Amino acid sequence: MFQHIESYAGDPILGLNDAFQKDPRPNKANLSIGIYFDDAGRIPVLDCVRQAEQQLVDEGGAKSYLPMEGMAACRKAVQELLFGAGHEAVTSGRIATLQTVGSSGGLKVGGDFIKRWLPDAQVYVSDPTWDNHRAMFEGCGLTVNTYPYYDPATGGVKFGAMLEAIQKLPRGSIVLLHACCHNPTGVDLSPAQWEQLVPVLKAGGLLPYLDLAYQGYGDGIEEDAFAVRALASAGLSFFIANSFSKSMSLYGERAGALSVVCQDAAEAELVLGQLRATVRRNYSSPPLHPGAVVARVLNDPALRASWEADVAAMRERILAMRKSLHAVLSAKLPGRNFDYFLSQRGMFSYTGLTPEQVDRLREDHAVYLVRSGRMCVAGLSTRNVEAVASAMAAVLA
Ligand code: LMR
Repeated sequence: MFQHIESYAGDPILGLNDAFQKDPRPNKANLSIGIYFDDAGRIPVLDCVRQAEQQLVDEGGAKSYLPMEGMAACRKAVQELLFGAGHEAVTSGRIATLQTVGSSGGLKVGGDFIKRWLPDAQVYVSDPTWDNHRAMFEGCGLTVNTYPYYDPATGGVKFGAMLEAIQKLPRGSIVLLHACCHNPTGVDLSPAQWEQLVPVLKAGGLLPYLDLAYQGYGDGIEEDAFAVRALASAGLSFFIANSFSKSMSLYGERAGALSVVCQDAAEAELVLGQLRATVRRNYSSPPLHPGAVVARVLNDPALRASWEADVAAMRERILAMRKSLHAVLSAKLPGRNFDYFLSQRGMFSYTGLTPEQVDRLREDHAVYLVRSGRMCVAGLSTRNVEAVASAMAAVLA
């Protein structure tokens, strides 16, 4: 029955994380997977999450099924977080929001919906993008293409080429965009660039699909929602998958959502119905616990304030690590420009290291990066940043 099955080469990110766990070297540094570690190298459990969980345990509620679309209090809070409570798109009821199994679950449900209802649409992702975007949309039966994005020469965005390519896309194409903290490069569009892009998307009859996995890690919780609000205010229809894995440090709980912004409330009702059907066919309904935790943290004013302070602290620690890395590398290799570490945002930076240099870092120095040269800056700490920078300087020299 199974002799024809091909072996799975493994996932480039998750496989590396497994290899790191098995590495016996005591000085190892995990800069591979997109996980925020605190300065002691631990994945934090946020105080707001601990308190919300305690409240839920104390209340002892039943563990019934959630509806296919998830918990109502979570879905409402997600809309207000993404769009702002008073935004016309929220108050008019023209957004269909589902609580999903992480934002990956949201991306997948959205992909299946697109395949069913917009079967001729092709997907365009940035070059490069998160490895799993292509795999996920292709897994939904969609054709995936790229548009120009990262410019290795400048460590910034090829914005002119990006706009030109997007202008030429067939009407109805799906354009996957990272709302903030681009994964893997850390290179984001500025608000002014979003303001140039939005009319191009609108004029071209394109359907944006935003991925917002790192809200709060860029410039702030509100600031990082700039693209979401710009698209909604311009009247575009679009998808947005968002995650609480990083922002609430809830990785394994799979806390995320999918929102589809429609033209009016009647359309949103139809879209929500078909999204519910898609969920039922995939995993029936999302998990109760993460929905309840997210709802409580976002809706309770004290827990919300504590969460916002924690997100700010995580963001600032990453920025401090960027500065330390930049300082040590600039001192060790004064002929090279490492300013991109300072301008890139969020958990990731594209280091410019070749796959061979990444292999040397791992083999000779126990420093783990994805082979594309992507570094998870959130894995740096005051204890390892000097050693990591020295190892990088050694392989770059
Ligand atoms: C990453 O890019 O490392 C994270 O989003 C984790 C993942 O699932 O790949």
